Amino acid sequence: RPHIAYQGDNLFIEACSVGDLARTHGTPLFAYSQASMADALQAYRSGFSGRKLHVCYAMKANSSLALLQFFARQGCGFDIVSGGELARVLAAGGDPSKVIFSGVGKTRPEMLQALEAGILCFNVESEAELEVLSEVASHSGHTARVSIRVNPNVDPKTHPYISTGLKGNKFGIAHERTLAAYRRAVQLPGLHVSGIDFHIGSQITDSRPFADAVDRLLDLVEQIEADGIAIEHLDFGGGLGIDYAGDTPPAADVLWQELLAKLDARGFGDRQFIIEPGRSLVGNAGLCVTEVLYLKPGEEKNFCIVDAAMNDLPRPAMYQAFHAIVPVHRSAAETSTYDVVGPVCESGDWLGRDRELAVQPGDRLAVLSAGAYCMSMASNYNTRGRAAEVLVDGAEAHLIRVRETPQDMMRAERLLTD
Ligand code: LLP
Repeated sequence: RPHIAYQGDNLFIEACSVGDLARTHGTPLFAYSQASMADALQAYRSGFSGRKLHVCYAMKANSSLALLQFFARQGCGFDIVSGGELARVLAAGGDPSKVIFSGVGKTRPEMLQALEAGILCFNVESEAELEVLSEVASHSGHTARVSIRVNPNVDPKTHPYISTGLKGNKFGIAHERTLAAYRRAVQLPGLHVSGIDFHIGSQITDSRPFADAVDRLLDLVEQIEADGIAIEHLDFGGGLGIDYAGDTPPAADVLWQELLAKLDARGFGDRQFIIEPGRSLVGNAGLCVTEVLYLKPGEEKNFCIVDAAMNDLPRPAMYQAFHAIVPVHRSAAETSTYDVVGPVCESGDWLGRDRELAVQPGDRLAVLSAGAYCMSMASNYNTRGRAAEVLVDGAEAHLIRVRETPQDMMRAERLLTD
């Protein structure tokens, strides 16, 4: 994480002291490095240099408006999975003609909303969805550009909850059904076949599953085109992992140079390509600063109780995920082993287990790799307002989300009137 590092004993994100950010904005606080996001995007672009590439940021990873605005300004499109996400793209100044719409459960109103906005493509996930999309498009006088999401049945070797390209997963159309689905798509009114896509899972740290999925995709494209159906773009999904705890995912540029060699060898190198990265663009750009409230030594465990919790950082509770936790100000004091836990009333509310820390109440800790799937999965459980967020650019920190108040949380609710 070149943009998140100690200067002396103080943790900095770019040229901003994390301690100062916490004093100014309070905790828990998410801070993101703009330079890290730019570097991560550049790694994909250099891997694809000289090719026709369209990067659609998978905004489910972090859909805060200012981050979307940043990616829109970099020329990115977006991979959306709901009408709500489309509304965010528009609010952030994103270009709807660069939006692709994924997800197994698109509703008719969401399809119509996306057609009216003029999105680039629907990534269709079932034969039933194809029929409904055709109906919605033709009844409203639109043409929906479609790509069919193939389930290539490869094992990405990641956490079962985030693997998506296996037969037993709910995503995509089975490899064996794909050709039939394309044949049907070209017959249906209101549809224009434009591409093909896959997404095999998330936090993948090995290049093999990507290579296998690309091979299978190309086999299918050959079959479909032999049938007279043109495939204009190839969409390889997202899924490239990041380093949480000594994980060693391939670098985006290295991975793609390798995969493009395969595409070249099979004569597909000059197609329009789309990728849908999420985590790898924002994950290691972010951290969450939290304050130590209490230390609670015990016979079996020592607890370090902090002011961030599973509602802010749900990944440990949901996936037993590991996030590094480091002091905002390093000290030479003796360490003890702690479970770092939040104030939420559940034993599952932990952020890190068995961590060696030298801490006192009032000290601040930074939970690292917190840019992806943290704020976007945050909840109001225990009526805890969602954290504030800052976007750091050099020595400047822009407040991009104010801390949520109890009034914000109750705004949509109504008391009984009688
Ligand atoms: N495209 C599609 C169709 C997806 O389903 C996903 C993620 C992505 C792209 C982006 O994948 P990425 O590049 O971020 O791996 N909440 C989980 C991750 C869920 C990922 C769901 N799909 C976590 O915190 O690990």
